[in-house]
Amino acid sequence: MRESKARILVPAGSIYRVSGPMTIIVEEGRVLLGGWVYKSGDKISISSYRSYAFKALEQSVVSLILMPGSSIEKPVPEEEPLEKWIEVADNIISSCDHEDSGKPCIVYVTGPTDSGKTSFCSFLANRAIAKNKSVAIIDADVGQSDIGPPGFISIAFPEKPFLWMRELWAKELVLVGSITPSPVVGRIITGIKRLLETARSKNIDLVIIDSDGWVSGMQALEYRIDVVRSIDPSYIVVVGDDVLHASLSKIIGMNNKIVFIESPKRVITRNRTDRRFLRRESYKKYFEDAKELEISINDIVVIGSCLFSGINITNSLSNTLSNNMQCKILYASQLPGSICLLVSEDCELSRTDLQGLANTMNVGEVLVIRKGDEKGVIASVLDDKMREVAPAIIESLDVENMVLKIRTRYKGVVKGIVVSKLKITRDFEEAGKPTRYLI
Ligand SMILES: Nc1ncnc2c1ncn2[C@@H]1O[C@H](COP(=O)(O)OP(=O)(O)O)[C@@H](O)[C@H]1O
Ligand SMILES: [Mg+2]
Repeated sequence: MRESKARILVPAGSIYRVSGPMTIIVEEGRVLLGGWVYKSGDKISISSYRSYAFKALEQSVVSLILMPGSSIEKPVPEEEPLEKWIEVADNIISSCDHEDSGKPCIVYVTGPTDSGKTSFCSFLANRAIAKNKSVAIIDADVGQSDIGPPGFISIAFPEKPFLWMRELWAKELVLVGSITPSPVVGRIITGIKRLLETARSKNIDLVIIDSDGWVSGMQALEYRIDVVRSIDPSYIVVVGDDVLHASLSKIIGMNNKIVFIESPKRVITRNRTDRRFLRRESYKKYFEDAKELEISINDIVVIGSCLFSGINITNSLSNTLSNNMQCKILYASQLPGSICLLVSEDCELSRTDLQGLANTMNVGEVLVIRKGDEKGVIASVLDDKMREVAPAIIESLDVENMVLKIRTRYKGVVKGIVVSKLKITRDFEEAGKPTRYLI
């Protein structure tokens, strides 16, 4: 099947629902899509992973280039919540205007997976940009992140309209190191707060926070409440889950500022394979044309590593152990209550060896890293103000010369790196669960 073309006359006020891959060209009139008003001559490219509703604000003519898999239909009345989305977005923007306190207006958007959170965040951002507001978006969805790569939360400052948040680039990030929120709730909260500080320092009018879809169960509710209490948003928008809306309203008690909006009727559902594919695309976005960089470990700060968070005891330990272990220790580090070893690839250490070592050194744990573990570890780069400014991937670690090779798009001076336990393959696929230190 090849692409097909269509030209349709859309009467003023009519709504259509489209799903990609397709291109829409506005020939005549004005069309509202994703919160932005497109005019005659504008071209809109819709990805195969996205669907939207558009509304003609006056009688319009649109040309469609439909690729295989795309569709266009007219929603049945009451099915499409577009009017309500417009009302809620515009109310938020205008009431934020009145606050006029010099503080940014913070909008936290929550709801289940695929409910339309990211779509509403984009919608609100585009409407605010159209009204000349300065906007920041914090993408705090660690699993299906659209701005930064998975495992990060990030901030972007869109100045032009955009269709999908994936078009935006992170200006600053926080590496939380997990693609599911539950093990890293504290880091997510600290990360959002840090990025909010950045938005404040730039005098942003409106900060929109997108979030993960973990909303089911008591633990998820507690996490959501912790987030809300820490960031103290001006508005909470709950998408598509009226029970979540009721619970949050009851507990947080800022009822006039907790708004419920319906989810759009879903035309495209993402299965696990799609989600995995989209995560791979996100890594690719930041790493595909990243440049290799060699940094001297002694000149930078390394955060999140067990090898470089302690005192180098390589020589003294090797002397103590040389007789009773079959293993080459390449680097050893002493930390409070633990030691961390980098051993050669072929090294076999039994439980008894490790227990013996812990006893000799009088520590509670011995953490072992194998040469080669470092390849593909996800990290981020710190600038001279110790801000995480770009994602990075670790290529190799040479402890003899204390040189770390990374790949990143960052072009400034690297003053430090933050490393995670997340790892990806050469093909940008996730490699295993992040449970142990890799550096
Ligand atoms: N008005 C709409 N009509 C049809 N589909 C929509 C509409 N708005 C958004 N969608 C689609 O719904 C899906 C889920 O939306 P998304 O905003 O990514 O959800 P979430 O961020 O909550 O996971 C996406 O494929 C998106 O393109
Ligand atoms: Mg989303």
